[in-house]
Amino acid sequence: MKPIRTAIFGAGFMGRVHLEALRRVEHVEPAAISGRNVAAAEKLGSAFGVPYATSEAILGDPSIQAVHICTPNALHFGMAKQALLAGKHVLCEKPLATTPAEAQELAAIAAQKRCRVAVCHNLRYYPMVQQMRAMREAGDLGEILVVQGFYSQDWLLYDTDWNWRVDSTQGGPSRCMADIGSHWFDAAEHITGLRVFSLCADLQTLHATRQQPKHSVETFANKTLSAGDYIPTPVDTEDFGAVVFRMETRARGAMTVSQCSAGRKNRLSIEIYGTKSGVAWSQERPDELWIGHRDSANQIIIKDPALLHPSARPFADLPGGHSEGYDDTFKQLFRRFYASIANPEATPEYPTFADGLRQLNILNAVLESSRTRAWVEVPVV
Ligand SMILES: NC(=O)c1ccc[n+]([C@@H]2O[C@H](COP(=O)([O-])OP(=O)(O)OC[C@H]3O[C@@H](n4cnc5c(N)ncnc54)[C@H](O)[C@@H]3O)[C@@H](O)[C@H]2O)c1
Repeated sequence: MKPIRTAIFGAGFMGRVHLEALRRVEHVEPAAISGRNVAAAEKLGSAFGVPYATSEAILGDPSIQAVHICTPNALHFGMAKQALLAGKHVLCEKPLATTPAEAQELAAIAAQKRCRVAVCHNLRYYPMVQQMRAMREAGDLGEILVVQGFYSQDWLLYDTDWNWRVDSTQGGPSRCMADIGSHWFDAAEHITGLRVFSLCADLQTLHATRQQPKHSVETFANKTLSAGDYIPTPVDTEDFGAVVFRMETRARGAMTVSQCSAGRKNRLSIEIYGTKSGVAWSQERPDELWIGHRDSANQIIIKDPALLHPSARPFADLPGGHSEGYDDTFKQLFRRFYASIANPEATPEYPTFADGLRQLNILNAVLESSRTRAWVEVPVV
């Protein structure tokens, strides 16, 4: 089978993660990498035998069928639109755009151009997340009553911590909720099969002013900087957010996001309680799933394809005792994305731009609720 040729826009944290994961996906050839920092893109690409090319050259090359967008959020809309208009399939990092209107426009262009489109909610693809979904589908949890959790990090704890996400012109009007809250809500809806229909949110900027380094820093790199020259800069994006929400049926929930929680490196934690049993999972211990019972001993199961529901098994490539983590979630998503390009009749088995729009609708409601200090309905689409 001839490999599908693809290209990556952006050569930072995600650019490398996407490139490495693509190397592990069947029948795909990373053919070019592009980035604002040409030297960094060339260095990353050359280590993998992938040439640097401008975005214009990539979009004008008919042999390149797909692109990955791994740039700051505010660039996603323009880059995705250009790529779709050039007839490329698009796999875009989250959040898909900065407003629901942009996401709607992208979804409409994709449908018109008959392009495959995915948004990178890769955290769905931890085997234990799929196991929770499979358990819910099989009725093991009963009717869902309560959905709780948080997503906490510490890399923006100090006022000297800086990243493009802090600046709303690059990251969009929300930081924490867009950056990590979108992953949490995507997981919550994916696992439960239920939609959030209304919510009440409180967003807080804990550092009203941050010390911005005079030179640019890439994601997480700020933690290794020594004291240097900083510019005091007012901040208009949130460090913390809390959301109480109502889902369809009786289900109710609450979650928080934080980028200022000392010691929490990247902890997405989700707990789902039904009328029969509960499940709890944390991204910092990805191979473990806690299963809670009212009338018998609770369990902790370890990722092992032999112990997973048959529908969750295809998401675990390795035998029990062999960890599958963050990198593997990208491989699983990309594999399904490229399989759908190879087979135009296939139903997408990955988050599409409709899911990206869904998260922007939730995000928009969160921003409005926090601003108006009121409950807000979330559009069902
Ligand atoms: N799915 C996940 O788990 C996950 C994790 C982290 C980040 N992300 C998303 O990935 C995207 C990138 O984040 P990151 O952490 O890699 O950021 P980063 O700062 O590490 O990298 C961004 C890259 O984009 C490049 N860039 C900036 N402006 C550009 C332009 N005009 N043209 C081309 N390249 C440009 C920068 O030079 C840099 O190489 C964001 O949308 C973020 O939300 C997703």
